[in-house]
Amino acid sequence: MARKKIIAGNWKMNMTPSEAVELVNTLKPLVATEESDVVFCVPAIDLIPVLEACKGSNIQVGAENMYFEEKGAFTGEISPNMLTDIGVKYVIIGHSERREYFAETDETVNKKVLKAFEHGITPIICCGETLTQREQGVTMDFIRQQVKIAFLNVTADQAKTAVIAYEPIWAIGTGKTATTAQAQEVCAGIRQCIKEIYDEATADAIRIQYGGSVNAATAPELFAQPDIDGGLVGGAALKPDFGKIVNYK
Ligand code: PGA
Repeated sequence: MARKKIIAGNWKMNMTPSEAVELVNTLKPLVATEESDVVFCVPAIDLIPVLEACKGSNIQVGAENMYFEEKGAFTGEISPNMLTDIGVKYVIIGHSERREYFAETDETVNKKVLKAFEHGITPIICCGETLTQREQGVTMDFIRQQVKIAFLNVTADQAKTAVIAYEPIWAIGTGKTATTAQAQEVCAGIRQCIKEIYDEATADAIRIQYGGSVNAATAPELFAQPDIDGGLVGGAALKPDFGKIVNYK
């Protein structure tokens, strides 16, 4: 089955609302394609102006995080209803920066993934090893554990629509992209893990991105790999280069 590529920008903590609108207007014509799904994941305060600026275009909008409760005394958090109410379709869950700086665990990732599905939001579920883990030869063991816990109690039908982003931590924001072979090997391992949890049909349907210093030069080879269905792009998503990444062919 041919999977449609999904190329997502992760803006992280960049762009004020007015800068965000300007960036969307710059990128809109550069990322206009029906061949791949294009998603801009932006800071919470930018969601409404970015949704407005993306109206009528092919760009879909995602959040960078979400809480796993419906509402209540959780100062500073954003609920799934708040996202769906304004038309957000995707949410990044468990980015390594959230795991490192904001104490997210495999368990909170799982709760958020379940909540996202409950509300019809597609989670972009992040996983990835540290440099030490890679050197110790435990990369796949570690990632399999992250994936298995993230998908606890997720049904096969839900899993089929999920997006997994494989982001080796040592490649994020470092300019050090994983080699194509390294990225393909882990993405294939993740697909195998999904097949073991569910079945072949689910493994065939789920989309797996590579992330970590993706740029216009590395995207074509990475995205041509059989198990890499697009990318989660940080730094380069804030530049016109993102247009080249989206039109990588
Ligand atoms: P980078 O970030 O492309 O700047 O390495 C990727 C990410 O963290 O999603």
